[in-house]
Amino acid sequence: MEKKTFYWGASTSAFQVEGGYGEGGKGLATTDVRKVPAGVTDSKVASDQYHHLEEDILLMKELGISLYRFSFNWTRIMGEGYEENPAGIDFYNRLIDLCLENGITPFPTLYHFEMPQKYVEDFGGWQSRKCVELFVKYAEICFRHFGDRVKAWGTINEQLIASAATDLNGNHEANQDEKMKNMYQMSYHMSLAEKKTFAIFREIVKDGKIGPICSMQVIYPETPSPNDILAARNAQDFLQNCFLDMSVFGRYPIGYSNYLKTKGWYPETKAEDAEVLTNNRPDFIGINYYCSTCVRTLAEGEDNSQLPPFYRNELFILGNNPYLKKTEWMEFGIDPEGLYVGMRDIYERYQLPMIVTENGLAFSDILEGEKVSDHYRIEYLEQHINQCERLVEEGYPVMGYCPWSLLDLVSSHQGFKKRYGLIYVDRTDDDVKECRRIPKESYFWYKDRIQSNK
Ligand code: BG6
Repeated sequence: MEKKTFYWGASTSAFQVEGGYGEGGKGLATTDVRKVPAGVTDSKVASDQYHHLEEDILLMKELGISLYRFSFNWTRIMGEGYEENPAGIDFYNRLIDLCLENGITPFPTLYHFEMPQKYVEDFGGWQSRKCVELFVKYAEICFRHFGDRVKAWGTINEQLIASAATDLNGNHEANQDEKMKNMYQMSYHMSLAEKKTFAIFREIVKDGKIGPICSMQVIYPETPSPNDILAARNAQDFLQNCFLDMSVFGRYPIGYSNYLKTKGWYPETKAEDAEVLTNNRPDFIGINYYCSTCVRTLAEGEDNSQLPPFYRNELFILGNNPYLKKTEWMEFGIDPEGLYVGMRDIYERYQLPMIVTENGLAFSDILEGEKVSDHYRIEYLEQHINQCERLVEEGYPVMGYCPWSLLDLVSSHQGFKKRYGLIYVDRTDDDVKECRRIPKESYFWYKDRIQSNK
C-alpha cells in the first residue's frame, strides 16, 4: 500500500457517541425524542464522549490513527435550530484543536442522521424547502468557525437511510402512499441542500475538500436469469445511483425518474434548482460498507410492505446469497470482495477519489476481566483492509480507511448490545455506569497494522 499518503483513521457519529444531552446549550434532536424499542437505550448518554473527550483523543493518538471521522451534532451547533450556540461551537473547537495537537486530521460530517426536532414540528423537517436553507445556513456557520483548521468535510451521511428512517427524520405520515412521496421529496431536498453547500464551501474553505458519504450498495442478482439481473440494475438505481448521480452530476437515473413519475412520487422542483444541481461537484466520495445485498424480481402478489421503505419497490425484492457467511448481526453475510467490486464500480462511474468512512463488524462482545477477545472483528477488518490494498495497488485512488467504530456506541437501531468498537465502553442498555474505556484485542491489532504500513 502506498505509504504516507494513506489515512488510517477511525469513525464515529455525534448522536451515537457524544451524549451530553441538554448540556452546553444543546437543543432537542430527533434522536433525543424518538421511540426506541423496549430495552434499547436512547442516545442521551451514548458513550459519553462529551465528558471523555481528552481521554478519547489520547486513545486515538495511542492507536496511531492520522484521521478522526466524526460528525457535528446539528443541535449542538444550532441549539433548537434557529440560533448559533457558542458553547457548542466551543466544544467542537476543543475537539478539533485536540485532534490537531495530537497529529490527527479532523474529518467531520455535517449531517449524520440527527436534526433539530423543532424543524420536524415547525415545518415537517426535510419535507419542506425551509430545511434546505436552514441546512445551508448551518453548514456555512460550521465552515466559518472551523474551516481555518478543518480541510476535509463530509456533507450527508447515507442519504438512503437519512431519507427513509422515519424516527430520525420525522416523516410520520400515516398514509403509506403519501409517506413514500414524502421520502422522495425529502431525498430531493437533501440533494439540493448538499449542492448549495458545495457552492458555499468553495467560497469559504478555498483549500478544503468536501464530499458525500454514501452507503455503498453492492448488489448481486440472486440468479443469472435476465430478470434478476435487471432487478439488480434497478435496485442499484434506487439504492445508490439516485443519490450519487445527484451528488456528482445533479441528475437522477432515467429509470428512477420514470418510476417515480408513474407512481406520482416525483419530487416538486423549481426551475432555478437546475443550475445549482449541475454546477457544483464534490471532491471525493466517502464509502460506508458493511456487506453486499442480493436481489431478485418480485413474484406476483408478493408482499414487500414490511421491508425498509426504499425496498418497497415493484422492480426488485431482497433475495438471499447462500455463498456468504452470516452472523447474528450480519444477516446478508460477510463479503470483503464486495468492497473491492463496489469501489471499482463507483470509481468508474464518477472518477473521484474515495475514502472508506465506515466498515466494521457488530458483535455482542463480552468483557472478561479487563479483556475483550474480538478475533472475529480482527478477521473481518483484515479481510476488508486487504481489499483496500488491492484497490490501491491496482491504481484506484483510495485515500484512507476508517473502521466503524473507534469505540462502542449506540447502534442506530439496536442500542448498546450491538457493539462495533475497537474500544469497549463499559455500559449496557439498562445501566450506563461510568462508560469506562477498555481497548479490545482489535485495537492492538489495528495499531500494529497501522505501524507496519508507516
Ligand atoms: C451506518 C451508519 O448506516 O451503519 C452508522 O452510518 C451505523 O451510523 C452503522 O451505526 C451500523 O448500523 P447499525 O444500525 O448497526 O448501527
